[in-house]
Amino acid sequence: MKALLIVPLFLSLATALWPIPTEYSHGNTVLWISDNVEFSFRTRGAIVGPQVFDGYQAKQQWIGPRDYDSVGEEHDAPTGADIIHHAIKSARETIFERGLYPWKFRPREWEEPQKDNSGHISTVQVKLLQSEDENPAKPLAGKVDESYKLTLTEAGEATILANSSVGIVRGLTTFTQLFYEHSHDGIYTPLAPIEIFDAPKFQHRSLNLDVSRNWFPTSDIKRTIDALAYNKMNRFHLHITDSQSWPLEIPSLPDLAKKGAYRPDLVYTVEDFREMQYYAAIRGVELITEIDMPGHTSSVHHSYPDLIAAYNIQPDWSTYSAEPPSGTLKLNSSAVDAFLETLLADLLPRVYPFSSHFHTGGDEVNKNAYLKDDTVRSNDPSILQPLMQAFIDRTHKHVRDQGLTPIVWEEMLLEWNLTLGADVIVQSWRSDQAVADIVAKGHKALVGNYKYWYLDCGKGQWLDFPPSSATSAFPYLDYCAPFHNWRAMYAYDPLTNIPPNTAAAEVLWSGAKDAQGRNRSQVEVSLRLGGMRERMVRLGVQAEVMQMPFCSMECTMGSVF
Ligand SMILES: *[C@@H]1O[C@H](CO)[C@@H](O)[C@H](O)[C@H]1NC(C)=O
Ligand SMILES: *[C@@H]1O[C@H](CO)[C@@H](O)[C@H](O)[C@H]1NC(C)=O
Ligand SMILES: *[C@@H]1O[C@H](CO)[C@@H](O)[C@H](O)[C@H]1NC(C)=O
Ligand SMILES: *[C@@H]1O[C@H](CO)[C@@H](O)[C@H](O)[C@H]1NC(C)=O
Repeated sequence: MKALLIVPLFLSLATALWPIPTEYSHGNTVLWISDNVEFSFRTRGAIVGPQVFDGYQAKQQWIGPRDYDSVGEEHDAPTGADIIHHAIKSARETIFERGLYPWKFRPREWEEPQKDNSGHISTVQVKLLQSEDENPAKPLAGKVDESYKLTLTEAGEATILANSSVGIVRGLTTFTQLFYEHSHDGIYTPLAPIEIFDAPKFQHRSLNLDVSRNWFPTSDIKRTIDALAYNKMNRFHLHITDSQSWPLEIPSLPDLAKKGAYRPDLVYTVEDFREMQYYAAIRGVELITEIDMPGHTSSVHHSYPDLIAAYNIQPDWSTYSAEPPSGTLKLNSSAVDAFLETLLADLLPRVYPFSSHFHTGGDEVNKNAYLKDDTVRSNDPSILQPLMQAFIDRTHKHVRDQGLTPIVWEEMLLEWNLTLGADVIVQSWRSDQAVADIVAKGHKALVGNYKYWYLDCGKGQWLDFPPSSATSAFPYLDYCAPFHNWRAMYAYDPLTNIPPNTAAAEVLWSGAKDAQGRNRSQVEVSLRLGGMRERMVRLGVQAEVMQMPFCSMECTMGSVF
């Protein structure tokens, strides 16, 4: 039976923050903010300013090796000063140029605040409480304190405090969400006074984007990074090569991309790659690069055919791989070793300034492919396993020698039973049980159960069915159908199956449960997420419509119990 539940009017405007902060209290006084408001920046320590830049004034009190003249040079990772400078600039742009006019969250004929008697925000003080590490752009999990404190007094004094530059980014992001655009009178918040203390529940909050199966221009990738940063996600996993194409330029192996990309121009050049990493880092997002191997490498065949076994076997591809075209790096080949050495020596030093991690893949390696590998000619696990162990040991040694921490897919640990270094982070995708097994073996786990969090599910098969099987395969569902809507995604608790005393890594800021340990409620979340969708659209992110405005405007129905 369906019933209607009354949801308080204006709920969304009252709590309009996404993700929800750890501690949040607010009033209902309207304060206006004008674009000549001063954002001042202070840190403990010596004063290196004052300076004026980009149309706003800031009292610079930064102890850093670089001054602001070098901002915009993207050859090095951004410093904390660069990150804060950028965060203030983009907070101003978001508030004053991309504000949200909240008609979808108010009933018809609602009354906007009147400017006459209301107060103004006079100052926004940004304070860094500690001096920080030289390179905040490449945090190991838990090494960067992303917490922040935000206060706005009824008298109009705003303060954002944090222990790190990235914490200041997070605080300024929240600050932008307090404001709304007026139809003719400027920008205001209806929520003063405000007090927020906020910190993420999980240290690794990431999205994985595959740019090999489908190539995307860097402008799309950057927009995705914008969306991540605005949602306080702190990692961006770029699955940059696969069997279908090799779009990543490697100067010491130029044919890899020249011949392995779909088109010679559908590549990420050295400059593109650096730019994407910098773009992420300055927003407090670490771009994590994955070269998936030894499986998922058939695209290497186009440039180095001798390195790949079982390439594109037809029609029986499914005996040799999870999807066509089949093919894997040979497992007992000195030519493959030399190739990987060259590849990693070229790529890893370019990753190092921007990331603490490198993902070496390792999913869905099909043992039968090694029947066709002239260096092995076997699919016997007892023969293959030591070779795979040697492969991982060599690859991870390169990764560590370059000062990076390896990440692998769960199969390397759970299916191949490899002995991995204690530093290795294991990324899970297949089940909650796998996550429990990973942490039981003493590794940090990244959780991404495809049954809840894969965004490509439910769109149908990508392979065509000939008439002989077209009828039996109807209606052509993909392996992870159905489509996972936001409610299904939101219901998933990544700590399912994890013993309560274990620290597993994953993706949400606030956690699946509220401060009282209860499942968070869709009824409350729906409007807040709807508001976030509108803000993202204003930022240029093409997020899809969540619901018809009726539900968010009337706020008198829409829940079922
Ligand atoms: C900063 O660090 C201190 C000491 O570790 C901690 O108490 C505080 O919660 C942190 N965050 C903020 C925003 O002050
Ligand atoms: C691996 O290659 C070496 C040298 O070519 C060879 O001696 C050895 O038998 C091979 N191992 C397997 C399991 O085929
Ligand atoms: C890993 O261990 C499992 C369970 O003991 C076994 O079934 C599997 O064959 C092993 N894998 C390899 C590659 O040895
Ligand atoms: C909370 O959500 C989980 C799914 O994540 C579900 O299994 C559980 O039954 C829910 N608990 C309550 C009390 O509704």
